[in-house]
Amino acid sequence: MDKLVIDGGRPLHGVVPVSGAKNAALPILVATLLAPGEHELHNVPELVDVSFMLSLLGRVGCPSLVGLGGSPDRVRLDTTRIAFCEAPYDVVRKMRASVLVLGPLLARCGQAHVSMPGGCAIGVRPIDQHLKGLEALGCTFELDGGYIHGKVDQLVGADMTLDFPTVTGTENIMMAAVLAEGVSVIRNAAAEPEIVDLARFLRSMGARIKGEGTDTIEIDGVPALRPARRPYSIMGDRIEAGTYLLAAAATGGDVVAKGAPVEDMGAVIDALRETGCEVDVDGDQIRCRRSGDLKPVSISTQPHPGFPTDMQAQWVALMAIAAGESSVQENIFENRFMHVAELLRMGANIQLNGNTALIEGGGGLTGATVMATDLRASASLVIAGLSAEGTTEMLRIYHLDRGYERLCGKLESLGASIRRLPEDTPVVVGRPAQTTAAV
Ligand code: UD1
Repeated sequence: MDKLVIDGGRPLHGVVPVSGAKNAALPILVATLLAPGEHELHNVPELVDVSFMLSLLGRVGCPSLVGLGGSPDRVRLDTTRIAFCEAPYDVVRKMRASVLVLGPLLARCGQAHVSMPGGCAIGVRPIDQHLKGLEALGCTFELDGGYIHGKVDQLVGADMTLDFPTVTGTENIMMAAVLAEGVSVIRNAAAEPEIVDLARFLRSMGARIKGEGTDTIEIDGVPALRPARRPYSIMGDRIEAGTYLLAAAATGGDVVAKGAPVEDMGAVIDALRETGCEVDVDGDQIRCRRSGDLKPVSISTQPHPGFPTDMQAQWVALMAIAAGESSVQENIFENRFMHVAELLRMGANIQLNGNTALIEGGGGLTGATVMATDLRASASLVIAGLSAEGTTEMLRIYHLDRGYERLCGKLESLGASIRRLPEDTPVVVGRPAQTTAAV
């Protein structure tokens, strides 16, 4: 296994290209199951989660080719035949988003067998709302041997209200409803931009959808879908873009994120401006620069368009640097503060009180050995390491490979000192050795 070694204290400067959004790519890859034939997708990020999803699609009988025409972001998928309607435990256990196959398999094959996702590092994350919505469309489910066995004779449109605006739940239900007989209305639906991208892709295959990006999505079912006529390009990753902008703010740098879904990033841009950073938007580029001190800014995570939970951990790291008090409230997931214990090891002053982190920032962070626990917690520790005095060694970095394409390369191009080394490579961690003046 590898680790990251970061020598902190260097302001980041330059332009960083934003990759395709992981959370849009995953449902869109799965949605190709709904239309038998050949599909071509562009701007697909090179991530471990994307590879997991392609291997899951391969397991159900749909082969793919990555790197069309020498471009690693271009993928061709052949969904002409589905051989198995199953997402086995060894895949679902590695990636919860595998549960997204449930809706498309039920719609295409009338049955689906998906291993139960189980708990994960950021809370229990049940899928009851996915099942509730699919049941409203006529599916029945049995739980047996750790699997959810779903079946349906004919999907029939329904009017339903979700108890919580779940993102992948909304996507699962949308992907079944596009092939249902009649009209479906999903109320209290999630409004995240990745759902809008999925709706656009489904429409390019012939689906009839209205209201995506609001809390009420209306879908008029069609008898069949066909592959989009032109290659579909996945939207840019707002969380990746936001992470680089926060890294610029944390290091007192000047970074342009290019290819960002600017209009979907309002909450993060507003919060960054409140810290005193200068944030300029030009087309699909966002520039963040900081010359003065960071001001503390409290945030609370909310469904879109509120402050995204996937930026919460990075914001805690930024606030650990800003002089003064701030609070960060997590309202989407329980147990999503695993990064706090690691930030404390770097000298942060943070107290956890239920779902709120109270931060007394400004004392300065120092390099330490830290352990990443989930994807966004890892990003938080990278930001902390980049701004800390001395050397930070970060273990368990495989989480980063799931959600950040070429992280080291991109940060290096911005001037960071960041190396990926085998875990057993000796490294001196912490403040640089003090040089004693000769007497
Ligand atoms: C998606 C994103 C993830 C992001 C999250 C919230 C993907 C692949 N992942 O995850 O990066 O952090 O949205 O923006 O897109 N819940 C239920 N019952 C359900 C489903 C969810 O109670 O059936 C609860 C969860 O426990 C959690 C909350 O709803 O507390 C939000 O979860 P959800 O929106 O479903 O997150 P994901 O779709 O898993």
